[in-house]
Amino acid sequence: MLSLEHRAIVKATVPLLETGGEALTTHFYQLLLNKHPELRPLFNQAHQADGAQPRALANGVLMYAKHIDQLDALGDLVGRIINKHVSLQILPEHYPLVGACLLQSIEEVLGKEIATAAVIEAWGAAYGQLAEILIGAEEVRYQQNEQAEGGWRGARAFRLSRKVVESAEITSLYFEPVDGQAILLAAPGQYIGLRLSIDGQEHRRNYSLSALASHGHYRISVKREPGGKVSNYLHDRLAIGAPLDLFAPAGEFTLTDSDKPLVLISGGVGITATLAMLEAALPTGRAVHFIHCARNHAAHGFRTQVDALAMQYPQLKRFYCYEEGAGADALGRLDASLLERWLPLSRDVDAYFLGPKPFMSAVRRLLIASGVPSQQCRYEFFGPASALDQ
Ligand SMILES: Cc1cc2nc3c(=O)[nH]c(=O)nc-3n(C[C@H](O)[C@H](O)[C@H](O)COP(=O)(O)OP(=O)(O)OC[C@H]3O[C@@H](n4cnc5c(N)ncnc54)[C@H](O)[C@@H]3O)c2cc1C
Ligand code: HEM
Repeated sequence: MLSLEHRAIVKATVPLLETGGEALTTHFYQLLLNKHPELRPLFNQAHQADGAQPRALANGVLMYAKHIDQLDALGDLVGRIINKHVSLQILPEHYPLVGACLLQSIEEVLGKEIATAAVIEAWGAAYGQLAEILIGAEEVRYQQNEQAEGGWRGARAFRLSRKVVESAEITSLYFEPVDGQAILLAAPGQYIGLRLSIDGQEHRRNYSLSALASHGHYRISVKREPGGKVSNYLHDRLAIGAPLDLFAPAGEFTLTDSDKPLVLISGGVGITATLAMLEAALPTGRAVHFIHCARNHAAHGFRTQVDALAMQYPQLKRFYCYEEGAGADALGRLDASLLERWLPLSRDVDAYFLGPKPFMSAVRRLLIASGVPSQQCRYEFFGPASALDQ
């Protein structure tokens, strides 16, 4: 338990963190990765480069400091961190390394005058408490994964069994376990952690499952990212039969059972998680409005499959919007008038959306403006979460 004095000091440093939090964590990441190069593969360097991960951690630490007296007020933040950590195999022994670098950074960035011994001690205790909460919750998840049917703990060897080109930039990859045993049934919307070695260097990435895992394999669908290490490797170099390690599925962006009409809205490769949701929802008879936005026809993946589902399940209505070229129901960007036409009449729907961040900001704004309750709008980030512009 944190002492009252520690709590008071931590709470008093919130305004400090609010102004300097990001500089602090940027400094912290450099220190951590230089001191412990063995941790580099765990972190996506692109997320460091664009500042998303330092911002996410700054936000995590700040929220924690703000709510140190009632941690339940942190809402879904802790759940999100735990899921991300579990999917990338963050382990208890990593926490002291991170804690030591965080404290050293507080001292170096704020200077010894502000970061006095008492401040460092209080933050050390506070970090220790948060680390204990996360380590405990992550261990529960590791155990659940291990004990569930088809589950496992740590890395499990899979091999690439099939590759299917879905569009000019998206390719699906199917992975089967090398041991030939059952695999964990992921909830629709969840992602896996993938670990592979490229030219002797280890990389870990998350990919949403783009189909239900009920056929003995996992399917992911990957967009080729210009200059991207893993996506290009998966597209061009990973051969059929090649092994790689997977960490068990995780994630909270999952389809919940409900009778309300389901609205799935995706932009580009954001379609992946919504495909698994579509597959799960249709056999239940639930009405689904599936809206997909793509740059053009060539970039549009899975059209044939979704069109075939619409023939098979009359309760599925699908709408396509392209930024350019022919072949869609609308041209340009998704806007209020298109949503007006494409949403169910009743706005008491469950909406799930995913895509590039500006797309998600727009979709959230449009959905709420059209009358969908904000608590019924759910979304996922293909990177560290951050606030969607209002
Ligand atoms: C929960 C979740 C689910 C996801 N699901 C999917 C999915 O279903 N399909 C999918 O395609 N992706 C998905 N992603 C994204 C995926 O994890 C990868 O981030 C993506 O494939 C890019 O990885 P990469 O290794 O190819 O690119 P990276 O090598 O990480 O590079 C990404 C971009 O950043 C640039 N870059 C890299 N390093 C630097 C640097 N140091 N400085 C400046 N720029 C740099 C690169 O040029 C490139 O443009 C998901 C991510 C998350 C978190
Ligand atoms: C109290 C300690 C910690 C806090 C508050 C914290 C917080 C966070 C947050 C907020 C995210 C982003 C979640 C998201 O929205 O996706 C995250 C992701 C991550 N964390 Fe932690 N974390 C802690 C400890 C650790 C430790 C010990 C490690 C291991 C070295 C670690 C490694 C990672 C990695 C690899 C990611 C994903 C990064 C990416 O996507 O590039 N974290 N953490």
